[in-house]
Amino acid sequence: MPDIIDPAISDYLLAHCTPADDVLRELAAETRAAFPDAAGMQITQDEGELLTLLTRLTGARVAVEVGVFTGYSAICIARGLTEGGSLLACDVSEEWTGVAREYWKRAGVADRIDLRIAPAIETLRALSADPVVDFAFIDADKTGYLGYYEELVPRLRPGGLIVLDNVLQQGRVVAGGAQSDSVVAIRQVNDRVVADERVESVMLPVRDGVTLIRRR
Ligand SMILES: C[S@@+](CC[C@H](N)C(=O)[O-])C[C@H]1O[C@@H](n2cnc3c(N)ncnc32)[C@H](O)[C@@H]1O
Repeated sequence: MPDIIDPAISDYLLAHCTPADDVLRELAAETRAAFPDAAGMQITQDEGELLTLLTRLTGARVAVEVGVFTGYSAICIARGLTEGGSLLACDVSEEWTGVAREYWKRAGVADRIDLRIAPAIETLRALSADPVVDFAFIDADKTGYLGYYEELVPRLRPGGLIVLDNVLQQGRVVAGGAQSDSVVAIRQVNDRVVADERVESVMLPVRDGVTLIRRR
């Protein structure tokens, strides 16, 4: 598949956003060294900065993340929370989130993050049905996205934001593209979001595609 963004433009974008600090840079390096085959799952510096800005701009106090890996995006979200805010972080891997826990301490955000190791759909279904969530980031198994979305929208306060990652699947979502389970699932959630009258949304060509979804 072709790159969605020209590599030279991509480098330029990275060079013109707030630089990652030492903790994030070291986390990215350690993730590449420890898990070379999985490291591509980690969000990039510019997407991390986008998450911090969006969390800050929504004045988020209660946040949820689905898909932690080694904790990069969780640090970015936790840093954008208002004073006293918290992030419920969902993942199934003790190994990957072991690295996350270490870096959350180093980043000074460990006390703001509540990590739940369980299938995320179970964690979300067990949450109170009240609309108290200000911000959510979904970046886990693609076939689970629709379920995560449907659990989160009713729990989102009016004005709250859901961010979906990898909504372009390297361009494969367009008609005639591949039909893997992940691509089919992402097409389904993309179609659901745009038809859902509870929300307004915009899909952005940031990295592998990011959709911003605001509860009306
Ligand atoms: C793309 S990675 C997340 C990357 C992360 N946001 C970051 O910034 O590095 C996807 C994560 O989803 C987790 N995951 C996969 N299936 C899951 C499920 N059913 N419930 C919760 N987490 C799941 C994986 O263990 C993996 O850590």
